[in-house]
Amino acid sequence: MKLTDVTAADRAAVDLSRVDLFDAAYHAEGDPHAAWAVMREQAPLHRSELPDGRAFFNVTRYHDACRVLGSHREFTSERGSLLSQLGHDDAASGRMLVATDPPRHSELRRPLNKMFTGRGLARSEDRIRDAVRSLVAGALDGPVWDLAQQATMLPMAIAGALMDLPEPDWKDLVQWTGMAAAPQDPVFTIRNPHATLAIAHHQLFEYFATQYEARKGTDGDDAFRLLMTMRDGELTREEVVVNCYSLLLGANATTPHTVAGTVLALMERPDQLRAVRENPALIPSLVEEGLRWTSPASSFLRYAVDDVEIAGGLVPRGEAVAVWVGSANRDADVFPEPYRFDVRRSDNRHIAFGYGAHYCLGATVARLTLRLFFEEVLDRIEEFVLAGEPQHLVSNFVAGFTSLPVRAVPRRVEAVAGR
Ligand code: HEM
Repeated sequence: MKLTDVTAADRAAVDLSRVDLFDAAYHAEGDPHAAWAVMREQAPLHRSELPDGRAFFNVTRYHDACRVLGSHREFTSERGSLLSQLGHDDAASGRMLVATDPPRHSELRRPLNKMFTGRGLARSEDRIRDAVRSLVAGALDGPVWDLAQQATMLPMAIAGALMDLPEPDWKDLVQWTGMAAAPQDPVFTIRNPHATLAIAHHQLFEYFATQYEARKGTDGDDAFRLLMTMRDGELTREEVVVNCYSLLLGANATTPHTVAGTVLALMERPDQLRAVRENPALIPSLVEEGLRWTSPASSFLRYAVDDVEIAGGLVPRGEAVAVWVGSANRDADVFPEPYRFDVRRSDNRHIAFGYGAHYCLGATVARLTLRLFFEEVLDRIEEFVLAGEPQHLVSNFVAGFTSLPVRAVPRRVEAVAGR
């Protein structure tokens, strides 16, 4: 996937009848940004049909994306939100946050909101900073360092602490969530994508079920126990397990790709790094631009509750609609010069965290993590230099990297001392 400009030649090379956005490999090797640009211009409601007869609509414009994600009365999440599961209703429907519509969704979400925002999170800031420091320190340890691989431990350390998961288990959990998010990527595939997903689900569900039993009758103010002791609409063990799975997948599958993709954007644009170094007050806006630019949660699915007119066409009742977040975040109607990575971008209303009731529960955690990461990088590292070919993740769900080899040039001692 190319994250830079989409030229007139790139657009001209797109033949929408041959574009296969369902194909995970297309997102790593093809040029989805060029296809999305053409869809936004020429086919804002584009229908894709798979060889086995399954079909879905693609929505690529910003305002249409917000409407599909935000309007549960028109487009339900209850049949699942992953394109890879197209046509197979989610087994956790009505029980897992992301596969539940309001009002049940609001009951499930309300108690968690407090823990993932405001004061609930302020208590975790030191832990997040420690995780960020040990990641950045690793960059300075050796000549070449794989940022994409190393960054996978960052959200795990944070979610691990928020959910009180034992540290020795984190490596396995990162592996299993990687397999669950991108079973088609050769880095994760065991035998075949189907088997990979089944193994990942089995391991994760069994893991959380065991953790559930171990926590019975114990005290703590972590997210896991919060789910176990919810007062309104008490959850069964299975419901706690699927929501722990969803929380960890949400954290692990996304944040590392924004870290890697934003660093890559800065390596390609030294002037942007310079601007932030000269004015660190730009770090929050670098984070927002990094989120817009990378849009790691790439697609979400909804199903039409009734016949719905949208984007100049009609989605018949019961049909699936894929929202392409990375496309919405490069819609020129909302983002002037959308293919310019601009740390000073104002009014950056990206939807990297989604829109509406399902707006990312971990958005505050993710923003804090990214802010602390770039603060630490600016403090310790002069620049990153690309030391190998980036490898893109093979996935139609997550846009990101499996490898980003870099060399970290340490900050000069006098620069650090003179701060
Ligand atoms: C850069 C980082 C992240 C991005 C880009 C991201 C993106 C998203 C998006 C787009 C959604 C909406 C899904 C939908 O509409 O169906 C979502 C939901 C969710 N995210 Fe994140 N996420 C990130 C980090 C996290 C973290 C750190 C956590 C947990 C600590 C998390 C947990 C969740 C959960 C539980 C949901 C479901 C919320 C609901 O259905 O109400 N995410 N995320």
